[in-house]
Amino acid sequence: LMRTKIPDGLQKLPGPKPLPIIGNVLEVGSNPHLSLTAMSKCYGPVFQIQIGTRPVVVLSGNEVIRQALIKQGEEFSGRPDLYSTRFISDGKSLAFSTDQVGVWRARRKLALSALRTFSTVQGESSEYSCALEEHISKEGLYLIQRLHSVMKSDGSFDPFRHIVVSVANVICGICFGRRYSHDDDELVGLVNLSDEFGKIVGSGNPADFIPLLRIFPSASMKKYLAINTRFSKFIQKIVSDHYDTFDKNNIRDITDSLIDHCEDRKLDENSNVQVSDEKIVGIVNDLFGAGFDTISTALSWAVVYLVAYPEIQERLQAELKEKIGMDRTPCLSDRTDLPLLEAFILEIFRHSSFLPFTIPHCTSKDTSLNGYFIPRDTCVFINQWQVNHDPELWKDPSCFNPDRFLSADGTDINKPEGEKVLVFGLGKRRCIGESIGRAEVFLFLAILLQRLKFSGMPGEMLDMTPEYGLTMKHKRCLLRVSPQPGYAS
Ligand code: HEM
Repeated sequence: LMRTKIPDGLQKLPGPKPLPIIGNVLEVGSNPHLSLTAMSKCYGPVFQIQIGTRPVVVLSGNEVIRQALIKQGEEFSGRPDLYSTRFISDGKSLAFSTDQVGVWRARRKLALSALRTFSTVQGESSEYSCALEEHISKEGLYLIQRLHSVMKSDGSFDPFRHIVVSVANVICGICFGRRYSHDDDELVGLVNLSDEFGKIVGSGNPADFIPLLRIFPSASMKKYLAINTRFSKFIQKIVSDHYDTFDKNNIRDITDSLIDHCEDRKLDENSNVQVSDEKIVGIVNDLFGAGFDTISTALSWAVVYLVAYPEIQERLQAELKEKIGMDRTPCLSDRTDLPLLEAFILEIFRHSSFLPFTIPHCTSKDTSLNGYFIPRDTCVFINQWQVNHDPELWKDPSCFNPDRFLSADGTDINKPEGEKVLVFGLGKRRCIGESIGRAEVFLFLAILLQRLKFSGMPGEMLDMTPEYGLTMKHKRCLLRVSPQPGYAS
């Protein structure tokens, strides 16, 4: 506050008047994506709120967000020092920590190249185009068997509970060279805790900003601390097994390739940046965490939308039947032939906006945006939900309508329309798993839809209200599934 002397020609940020001690916590409330979208209508695309005594700048609108994250990317690519993120991967996370820019850049480059290498490499069987396709195909088919057997024994299934294990197995295959059974208590228990994680690290958690709230941690906060410890232990065990069996001539997976990198010590030769072994091998924490939670949330929403919109489910099944038939399993290269499925996925991303804000950003130096002065080290929230529901960009934004992404004759995707959807962030901090994420959501859905028909429980209403968090989930629910004609269970 002492530093807020505003340079000539720039203006003070607009925003609601804060109360002493708590700031605007009450107005932000428990659904910040909605309250901050409403505030943007009043204060414009760049405004300031205060959480506790700390100012936070909130960005909305396609143009302003592009200006900040792309054109002024350098100034807006930091991460703020928030209380909850200190507990993620012992404060050493690639995505959340306040690493200096050189260290973050070197780690990000390494993570990107490891992901690219181990998803595009040839898998065990030449039947598949790459390892990623092989993992998804096999897990998709296991998931179908699993759902049939749960239906037989229970008469219904909880979509997130089973999908998350299949999705976690794909990233486990790439990162750790192994998969887990759907009955493995350790993995199943761990991945089913991600709702609690997301609730604490979602943008706008008051405990991140108001130290007083940490004296008596909430039940959620206690669970959160326990989840982080459990998560780290799980990964540490796998990493130490990899160190024990490491063979330089046989790099099995991403963990091995990161260990190998530490041995070579050739990280970013040009930049002289020293990154500890722990921070290099620790990259698998981020890849595993980001790789299962986001995709399983997307797929679980997709299944719920299929049930809520049965006529769209039927159209999707007809498209699969016509373009792929029933004699072979869909594959990644079918993507361009299934425009309705692509449009459905884009509309799920847009309508659910299940990542309502990016991970919080932070300014790396004094800067300005739209004529407003923003000091260095200011926490910045990027409201993706607002962009995806902006009536300036979308006709009837609250209506779920995949056709908005199809060309007029329905045979192709309208690319510029698809590019307006904001779920992976933009610019320097843009998601590094985007192509894996899009491929995985597509192929899992194609495989499931080819063989299964999803429906709700008779007489029960589906509750589609999202629960706020870093990734917003639908409420846990029970659904039913039956085989498509031509496929016995
Ligand atoms: C960051 C979305 C899948 C790894 C992010 C961010 C978003 C996002 C919004 C934050 C961007 C920002 O702060 O501006 C998604 C969605 C996914 C997905 C919607 C799936 C549908 C994945 C996968 C991986 C991954 C599969 C890895 C295997 C990461 C990492 C970061 C990140 C490491 C941090 C990047 C950084 O801070 O430099 N993702 N993601 N994501 N994502 Fe993803």
